[in-house]
Amino acid sequence: MKIALLGYGTVGRGVDQIISERVSEAEVTRILELPDRLTDARMTSDYDDIVDDSSVELVVECMGGLEPAHAFIMRALAAHKHVVTSNKAVVAAHLAEFISAAAQAGVSLYIEAAVGGGIPWIASIEKVRRIDEVTSFSGIMNGTTNYIVDAMRRQGAEFADVLARAQELGYAERDPSADIDGIDVKNKTIISAAVAFGVNCTPDLPVSGIRNLTKADLDLFAAHGRTVKLLGRGVRQGGRYAAAVEPVAVGEGTLEAQVPSNFNLMTLDATTVGELKFYGQGAGSLPTGNAIVQDVLDCASGTLRPTYDLSRALAYAPELLRSDYV
Ligand code: HSE
Repeated sequence: MKIALLGYGTVGRGVDQIISERVSEAEVTRILELPDRLTDARMTSDYDDIVDDSSVELVVECMGGLEPAHAFIMRALAAHKHVVTSNKAVVAAHLAEFISAAAQAGVSLYIEAAVGGGIPWIASIEKVRRIDEVTSFSGIMNGTTNYIVDAMRRQGAEFADVLARAQELGYAERDPSADIDGIDVKNKTIISAAVAFGVNCTPDLPVSGIRNLTKADLDLFAAHGRTVKLLGRGVRQGGRYAAAVEPVAVGEGTLEAQVPSNFNLMTLDATTVGELKFYGQGAGSLPTGNAIVQDVLDCASGTLRPTYDLSRALAYAPELLRSDYV
């Protein structure tokens, strides 16, 4: 299967490396890059070269951001190309539109890499849902905030000092707001709720980040045997559901409290299988590249993803999420 990469940053390079070293079923024949970075014969800065190339059956979008990623994905689907994406922002904002465009074109949209990097989270929810009802999910889904809170606790430092140090070391983005204000976790929670419950929780979802967390807060929680983790959570009971992104006080003895910086831990609960936990690297070139290549291989072997009806009329019931942890 001939594939095109849109974007050749950290994730795109990881995908290219894994496919060239380990995969015989797929070949990267085109790469969309900026005009001043065309360093490889496969690269073009003109998206028409990719959309109009009928030999390209699958497009991997790893550019990030809403536009032009959204427009490029829609054009690829309309041209009957499968799409694999790691872009949580564009999937959270446009999942229903993408699903219907893919169905119309008879192709598939694969989103494993959009949540939890290398952790097989989306595929696992989908497997569980085949014979089960997901009753809740919860996750440490953002490595940057996990690093910042851990460092505040270990160093007894204030948020602003740790953030500045994390930026110096390259652990936090120069504009860190998507991470520290919970936007990244919000996108991952919207996608998880869509896959787990078949609901678009965007209009209901309250989001708080960690920007206002102080050393004094952490000291107070520590005195009660707790630490703080930024969690994305969703719960469903019959026709009601709730979802939220917020810092939650977790007991020091829990697995959540042990999750080190830059790792993710997600939990799924379902009626017959009970509780499942998924732990691993939630970001990075090769872990995220691995998740993308898993999707590429599924597509190459003819496995189309299930489609979702996101119009499910679940009633928003915030009282369902009174924290079990605090
Ligand atoms: N900024 C994200 C994180 C990257 O810190 O986990 C992966 O989505």
